[in-house]
Amino acid sequence: SADSEAEFWLFGYGSLIWKPPPLYDRRIPGYVTGYVRRFWQASQDHRGTPEAPGRVVTLIERSFWETLTDHHDSPDKVWGTAYRIEAAKVAEVREYLDIREINGYTVHYTPFHPSDGSSIIKTLVYIGTPENDQFVGPQHPQKLAEHIHRSFGPSGPNKDYLLSLEEALDNLSSESGDAHVKDLATRVRKLEKQANAVGERAASA
Ligand code: BEZ
Repeated sequence: SADSEAEFWLFGYGSLIWKPPPLYDRRIPGYVTGYVRRFWQASQDHRGTPEAPGRVVTLIERSFWETLTDHHDSPDKVWGTAYRIEAAKVAEVREYLDIREINGYTVHYTPFHPSDGSSIIKTLVYIGTPENDQFVGPQHPQKLAEHIHRSFGPSGPNKDYLLSLEEALDNLSSESGDAHVKDLATRVRKLEKQANAVGERAASA
């Protein structure tokens, strides 16, 4: 159909920011509204295992988030990257994404605001909604930081995901930092320092 041959745009708010999909031909920074980014999705396939799932980000609808008790505040913009996939490549990219993004995420569509002020774009976005099995929900920041600090999966240490996300967000624009991500990253760096200090004491004992 004409529709399946149309280009599409993908919005990345997690690993897609620093690990782009294949075959995109344009990449632009910007934001979506109406959501809050949180490390509330369990990862059994990338940053953890089925026995010891890690934690990765998902988007929470603000109207739902406002009914919860959370420890972090959040502005109404979730920053990320939009990727354009040209029509000829759509089938191939969707296949790749289906493999990469399962584990609870479902397909949604949301308007994306390019940071250069150009027109709003309809984007496809993967969200782990509260109904999916991997949804965790609010956790105390220190408990969550400790969980991320100790988790590992086939894609590497869970903490590398967190620190890569922090860095990728800082590089998108001067206002794209995320307080939830920053606070967790600060806590994880502190845990890392403590672990190294214990290791050094053990080595010199
Ligand atoms: C993202 O970067 O937007 C993303 C990556 C994997 C799963 C869901 C979302």
